[in-house]
Amino acid sequence: MITRKQLLALVGFVILGAIIIWIGRDDPSQRPKIEEQPPVQTPVTQPSTQSDFNQITLPHDDPEFPPGPGRELFLARCTVCHSLRYITMQPNFSKKVWAKEVAKMINTYKAHITGEEAREIINYLATVKGTDQDGASNSKLK
Ligand code: HEC
Repeated sequence: MITRKQLLALVGFVILGAIIIWIGRDDPSQRPKIEEQPPVQTPVTQPSTQSDFNQITLPHDDPEFPPGPGRELFLARCTVCHSLRYITMQPNFSKKVWAKEVAKMINTYKAHITGEEAREIINYLATVKGTDQDGASNSKLK
């Protein structure tokens, strides 16, 4: 049986809970007022014809590699990560140094180049940007 005291305590808790909920309620009249503003109309200017676009012609910056065996493979494999400037800005190297360079691209930077492809690329590089028997630079690049 619930005693009179317990009943009073229960009613007290219910009233207290109701008061707490009422205080914590979201009263719209207590919200900070935000002035409503009309949406800003930004004028959109659209080019009416193709000739409204400006055009610039960039200077030619692609190094020119002369034709020869391995050229296409070299252009395909060695432009994946960087521009050909990385190759043209080097001094002319012996075949041995080019072989080391290509091996570095494969082993260190994980270039996807097979052994057969590497040989072809090294031969091409040694031909167009190599050194002759006396170790003198022998560049065929334009
Ligand atoms: C998987 C990406 C990748 C491919 C493919 C790649 N390279 Fe590189 N290469 C790099 C990175 C990375 C560097 C170093 C960049 C730096 O140090 O700023 C680099 C630098 C170079 C340099 C500058 C000298 C040096 O050793 O840092 C040369 C020369 C070069 N690469 C040649 C080649 C040639 C030739 C090929 C084709 C056989 C090739 N790269 C393909 C990633 C690549």
